[in-house]
Amino acid sequence: MNGFSTTRLTAERLNESHLDDLVALHLDPEVSRYLGGVREAEATKQYLAVNMAHWDQHGFGLWVLRTKDGTFAGRAGIRHIVVDDIDEIEIAYTFKREFWGQGLASEIATALTEIGLSQLELSSLIGLVFLANGASRRVLEKANYVLEKSTIHRGEDVVIYRIRR
Ligand SMILES: CC(C)(COP(=O)(O)OP(=O)(O)OC[C@H]1O[C@@H](n2cnc3c(N)ncnc32)[C@H](O)[C@@H]1OP(=O)(O)O)[C@@H](O)C(=O)NCCC(=O)NCCS
Repeated sequence: MNGFSTTRLTAERLNESHLDDLVALHLDPEVSRYLGGVREAEATKQYLAVNMAHWDQHGFGLWVLRTKDGTFAGRAGIRHIVVDDIDEIEIAYTFKREFWGQGLASEIATALTEIGLSQLELSSLIGLVFLANGASRRVLEKANYVLEKSTIHRGEDVVIYRIRR
């Protein structure tokens, strides 16, 4: 599970060498608009530590995504998240701006869903999206997630989509 490939992307388990690419990604205000806002380098350093610890604890987590020529394209993964006091498992995906609009998020969402439901044998997966994040909502709908509810998460209006095994 440390790595996998899709048609256009390769995924490698998050590690310390990814810090600079993640810092640059999180400093882009357009990318971070629906991720809780721009994160300074120190916050991304903590983010990396938390998400590497997630791997150690659960055996799955975030991967860094590269195009087949090795260029950093973004990050995606499967991870625990507490929503309305319930421990859920979500899929997550974020790409550098120049990679938007090519179907890459849909490609990775399908792959993550397959890994989560078939390989990890999870009973369901969720997608948690800011209400106004139309592109990400569309990605989940195309991957056959069903809108379940609206709620407030960390002070933001979000919607929860779910897919079951
Ligand atoms: C959201 C994000 C991952 C989408 O990535 P992407 O590779 O462009 O997504 P895809 O091309 O696979 O699919 C996007 C779909 O949304 C549609 N779309 C784009 N902007 C939209 C909008 N404002 N409202 C509704 N739909 C929109 C596209 O037309 C496409 O649907 P289609 O295939 O039916 O035409 C990307 O914009 C991103 O990284 N954003 C910043 C981080 C983020 O918000 N991550 C998700 C957190 S939940």
